[in-house]
Amino acid sequence: MTDLSGQRVAVIGGGSRLGRAIALAAAEAGAEIVVAGRSAEALAEVADLAPGRADVVQVDLSLPETIARLGTEIGAIDHLVSTVSMHAAGPLATLEDAAIERAVDAKILGPIRLVRATAAAMRPGGSYTFFSGQAAWRPTPGAVVTATVNGGLAFLVQALAVELAPLRVNAIAPGLVDSGALDRLGDEKAAVLADAVARMPVGRVGVPADIVSATLMVIGNGYMTGSVLNIDGGGRLG
Ligand SMILES: NC(=O)c1ccc[n+]([C@@H]2O[C@H](COP(=O)([O-])OP(=O)(O)OC[C@H]3O[C@@H](n4cnc5c(N)ncnc54)[C@H](OP(=O)(O)O)[C@@H]3O)[C@@H](O)[C@H]2O)c1
Repeated sequence: MTDLSGQRVAVIGGGSRLGRAIALAAAEAGAEIVVAGRSAEALAEVADLAPGRADVVQVDLSLPETIARLGTEIGAIDHLVSTVSMHAAGPLATLEDAAIERAVDAKILGPIRLVRATAAAMRPGGSYTFFSGQAAWRPTPGAVVTATVNGGLAFLVQALAVELAPLRVNAIAPGLVDSGALDRLGDEKAAVLADAVARMPVGRVGVPADIVSATLMVIGNGYMTGSVLNIDGGGRLG
């Protein structure tokens, strides 16, 4: 397991789902954490559960002024992870511009603004880890925006890795992970998961621990930069 003793790790999206699991795992691995996101209540809950020091910063990636404020409040950090996603799912004809813009804020403009706001706070040896997703490699009808922002993010981390060097910049691209995000499907969730499992080489849906362990590895691996790690059970191939 990655030892993060003496390091300060910020997780944007840390109040819920995969971000919450990553923040708590980083804290368990010895890191001081900064949990950042929209809901003060959710962030406070994570901070209470963390075994060590945990600071809370409210930020909304669709509000650039809150990202700039995060830069002044975050303090010196060693690693920043952003799991933020704003969903714009459905056929293009049904999507409003505002939803598309939020999806771009989450995965393209948000990461760019986060880097601009926090690069000066990064200690030597630091890293950024952003969250892409399988939709970029396996597009499906109704996922044009999701595929595009996740694909754009994969190229963004390459460019950032060159510009920010020697800071490291990587992305994780999860496949279908039962993080709670799919609960919004209600009764359809079971059928969606069964269909995905039938196509998946590993024959199961991902669990948060699959993504948490990969994220800690990426944070801790000093030789990895400009890379996208597909943690998807082979789902992009099925
Ligand atoms: N789970 C999967 O199957 C899967 C598959 C492919 C890719 N991914 C990617 O993995 C990442 C994490 O996914 P997840 O499963 O944990 O669920 P998710 O619902 O996609 O997570 C989105 C996160 O973004 C936060 N968020 C949403 N809007 C925000 C905003 N305007 N400002 C700041 N934070 C905001 C949410 O926090 P609050 O709502 O609590 O504010 C939540 O923590 C995402 O980038 C997602 O696209 C996941």
